[in-house]
Amino acid sequence: MRTLLIGADGQLGQELRQVYADHDLVPVTHADLEITDWKHTEEVLDRNVPDLILNTAAYHRVDECEEFPARAYEVNALAVRHLAQWSKAHQAVLLHFSTDYVFDGCLRRPYTEADLPKPLSAYAVSKLAGEYFIRAIHDRHFIIRTCGLYGIAGSSGKGGNFVETMLRLAVEGKEIRVVNDQVLTPTSAKELAGKVRQLVETRAYGLYHITNNGACSWYEFAASIFEMAGLTPRLQPTTSAAFGARAMRPAYSVLDNASLRSLGLDDLRHWRNALEEYLKGRGRAQA
Ligand SMILES: NC(=O)c1ccc[n+]([C@@H]2O[C@H](COP(=O)([O-])OP(=O)(O)OC[C@H]3O[C@@H](n4cnc5c(N)ncnc54)[C@H](OP(=O)(O)O)[C@@H]3O)[C@@H](O)[C@H]2O)c1
Repeated sequence: MRTLLIGADGQLGQELRQVYADHDLVPVTHADLEITDWKHTEEVLDRNVPDLILNTAAYHRVDECEEFPARAYEVNALAVRHLAQWSKAHQAVLLHFSTDYVFDGCLRRPYTEADLPKPLSAYAVSKLAGEYFIRAIHDRHFIIRTCGLYGIAGSSGKGGNFVETMLRLAVEGKEIRVVNDQVLTPTSAKELAGKVRQLVETRAYGLYHITNNGACSWYEFAASIFEMAGLTPRLQPTTSAAFGARAMRPAYSVLDNASLRSLGLDDLRHWRNALEEYLKGRGRAQA
């Protein structure tokens, strides 16, 4: 079975490369392919004829997407529509990643796959449109919503993931302000990638939430990073209003891995355990 991985140099892409290392894997980076260039994308797909496409590519600088909503729609929705059309025409399975930001956060309990999305930002609307294009076009799909990803490769699109950003700021010695009124589940890209492979093997196509377990605010996430890394920077909680980001974000976007659980596959660890392993892996955690 041939697998084509789009976004192969991203933080999730690099973890998927490891997980699929024993496969007939074709890793495609942004330097190789711009997915909004449909002609080139079609050439790459026609040349490789994958049975499975893993698409991690996204325009996910959430605040920037407010300024460039057309670009967000091109990358996160229209390019995904083309991938779905090619997959349908060639009987390939399409696996695509989406986001907890499709929800508005008003429910205040973990969101299941059955809950109605209500996106708050241009990024979130474009990602939801990508999901809907896939569902409208091609049955043999996996859509995976995840949350607060961090991986060893760093989130290249954002110039480093949240963990790396916090560690860098701690070294710079300035006061660090982090929002305490947005609740999420930080998720290890490595654990997610391993779960992706297990899920694909079930052939139980559909929409899935996949995150680590537990929940915290971004402030609590930052405090845990510093505690585990043995750092004591000046960390202050703040509010979304005071932080003043351009894009609206959900106040609560914890996902319930309900569909994964129904397959008996929801054994992802608590986010603190996964974080500890990540930090140990990069030599920062205390013994
Ligand atoms: N990061 C999170 O916290 C988070 C949370 C929820 C959902 N997600 C979703 O999870 C998926 C993977 O995220 P990630 O953190 O692994 O992102 P990432 O590290 O930025 O990886 C995405 C990869 O796709 C490439 N890419 C971006 N635009 C492209 C385009 N137009 N054509 C071809 N390649 C392109 C990027 O290259 P460049 O870096 O060169 O642009 C990058 O290598 C995305 O769908 C994202 O929406 C992420």
